[in-house]
Amino acid sequence: MLTLVTGAAGFIGSHLVDRLLADGHEVVGVDDRSSGANVQPGVELWEMDVSDPALAERAAVRRPEVVFHLAAQVSVRLSVADPLGDARTNVVGTANVLEAARAAGSRKVVFTSSCAVYGVPDALPVPPDAELRPASPYAASKVAGEVYAGMYRRLHGIDFTTLTLANVYGPRQTPEGEAGVVSIFTDALLAGRPTKVFGDGAQTRDYVYVGDVVDAFARAGGEAGGGLRLNVGTGVQTTDRDLHSLVAAAAGAPDEPEFAPPRLGDLPAMAIDPRPTREALGWEPGTVLREGLAETVAWARDRNPVRP
Ligand SMILES: NC(=O)c1ccc[n+]([C@@H]2O[C@H](COP(=O)([O-])OP(=O)(O)OC[C@H]3O[C@@H](n4cnc5c(N)ncnc54)[C@H](O)[C@@H]3O)[C@@H](O)[C@H]2O)c1
Repeated sequence: MLTLVTGAAGFIGSHLVDRLLADGHEVVGVDDRSSGANVQPGVELWEMDVSDPALAERAAVRRPEVVFHLAAQVSVRLSVADPLGDARTNVVGTANVLEAARAAGSRKVVFTSSCAVYGVPDALPVPPDAELRPASPYAASKVAGEVYAGMYRRLHGIDFTTLTLANVYGPRQTPEGEAGVVSIFTDALLAGRPTKVFGDGAQTRDYVYVGDVVDAFARAGGEAGGGLRLNVGTGVQTTDRDLHSLVAAAAGAPDEPEFAPPRLGDLPAMAIDPRPTREALGWEPGTVLREGLAETVAWARDRNPVRP
């Protein structure tokens, strides 16, 4: 089938493009190249802003069956500094992508959300039906996108699935994203630079491998999971201190981080429950953290072969 992937040049988007092509689908990518640098061969790329109304005109001509919407302003910190800029890309952009899907007569939109929408939850791992408590413009923009997707389903009959991602890591990730810490530790440890852990190292996150994440997207592009919010995480909490040890071991580097004062606004703990995703999509996070980190470090080493 013909698919449209926004954010196709980004970290997760480029892996999704690889996966869709491998599955025999045709891919049209949309990306303004503001941060994404991964343009895959064999992909028709529309270099444009997701909030550009011309997107609907082009989509109406190409008529993708499924739209995977990943393009976003991805930084929580930038969203606090520039909430209107965040809303332009993440809220207006999502409304525009939904309008493009309507103009194209698409069957389904797969919308990319974030576990940030849960804020400080009552219990961990967070189930997908937990109360949404966005605590940043970025998180609020993801809630808004999901509300818009639900509205397009009711108003225009375009199906959607929201995939709520934990901290995604893997080859091609950059330090700016939500799981940027893996990339920051990897780059510093391979280069022999000092590393910093904020707070006492007990803060936790749920790390999910990008190969598993794009498997969830590929499944969500089918008939299953319609109208649902589904968590794409492992349900397992990993502390910052343990993550440092794991990356150091994979990099063959000393496990000696410096400790810095905690950062204002950082959530103390996060993990999201993937069990309803298994029921809906038959999806499981198959990659254990140690293996995924080994792949990530190997990729970073290959990119810069002077490193030990
Ligand atoms: N990486 C994570 O851990 C994580 C966690 C939760 C949710 N997400 C979500 O997953 C999606 C992909 O994130 P990623 O980590 O691959 O980030 P990324 O920055 O690598 O990819 C985002 C892509 O969108 C493009 N883009 C940004 N603004 C655009 C605009 N206005 N118009 C067109 N293209 C634009 C960028 O050039 C980039 O290629 C995002 O929606 C993000 O919010 C990521």
